[in-house]
Amino acid sequence: MGFQIGPITVDPPLLLAPMEDVTNLPFRLIAKRIARPGLMFTEFVSAMAIHYGAQKTFRKMRIHPEERPLGIQIFGGEPDVMAETARIAEEMGADLVDINMGCWVPKVCKTGSGAALLKDPVLAQEIVATVVKAVKIPVTVKVRAGWDYSLFAAPDLARRFQDSGAQMITLHARFAKQGFEGQADWKLIEEMRKAVQVPLIGNGDVKSPEDAVRMIRETGCDGVMVGRAAISNPWALRDIQLGIRRLPPGPKPTLDERIQTAMEHLRLMVACECECESYEEARSTANHADGELRACRALRGQIPLYIKGEFGASALRDRLTRCSTVAEYEALLTEFHGASVQAI
Ligand SMILES: Cc1cc2nc3c(=O)[nH]c(=O)nc-3n(C[C@H](O)[C@H](O)[C@H](O)COP(=O)(O)O)c2cc1C
Repeated sequence: MGFQIGPITVDPPLLLAPMEDVTNLPFRLIAKRIARPGLMFTEFVSAMAIHYGAQKTFRKMRIHPEERPLGIQIFGGEPDVMAETARIAEEMGADLVDINMGCWVPKVCKTGSGAALLKDPVLAQEIVATVVKAVKIPVTVKVRAGWDYSLFAAPDLARRFQDSGAQMITLHARFAKQGFEGQADWKLIEEMRKAVQVPLIGNGDVKSPEDAVRMIRETGCDGVMVGRAAISNPWALRDIQLGIRRLPPGPKPTLDERIQTAMEHLRLMVACECECESYEEARSTANHADGELRACRALRGQIPLYIKGEFGASALRDRLTRCSTVAEYEALLTEFHGASVQAI
């Protein structure tokens, strides 16, 4: 039931969206184990930062063999710099390189990258063509519908990218000027279907198995990409995966399972920040305290979401967002679990 991108089989046709500060290696490993999406992506990686040797950005390109197939997503506005980063992504073991033309935030767009390229079809095409020539792995592109409502630019762009060798197009069915406002307009995905023959991925506001099935049916897209619904909730992604395969949802995760997974996420994040294979190894390194602090800060927004919806979770939120060590998180979550069990 999946589809091919060159040598890569994407089965099931469910893709975990690239999300800055979210789809880091720890979360991808958890998502893969629990939800088994057909393809995942790194957070977007600045080609210019790689060009200047920023170590923090290099870390975002690290890949674990268990998460394959995996795309490294890159952004930038200069064809040669993008090609250079694509080659590094290939060397680092990416199965494909995805080019970001959807990011609407000013810090990205004002450098002529991300969604700003939707306004410059010639440069956008040159970037795709240069990157395609630079690597042997497939190159894919993620776009929004256009810059603003005055022009649905994506079909023309997608045709250009296909002509230049792009092997998959993802459409987030909003215009850049919208940010995340309003509803994604899936009719735009249906329109795009007519423009390209390469696999087309629909994206925007898929929150449930029913949404995913409906998006495929109504638009004719080859696969569905899910972002926000999966944040701190790999079980929602799992249920969408099962739904696409016409299977019933899995068991609702228990509070214990959610807390264990949150702690696993945190420990993996510490390992990642300390550039170690495991939390245990990280604990024995000299710079362990710094790495632990960075990991705790990085997940301040995400750990509370693991228990969202539980009675008393919102009251705990503030305290969780102030944690600076793994032990502090663990103590609060264990206390919360104990109180929840007693309340039953
Ligand atoms: C926190 C966050 C970070 C994101 N970072 C990226 C990114 O790095 N690259 C990208 O192409 N899109 C990024 N996006 C957009 C998502 O990939 C996706 O297109 C968007 O969230 C719509 O899908 P959804 O409705 O399923 O969330 C991000 C979205 C969120 C919420």
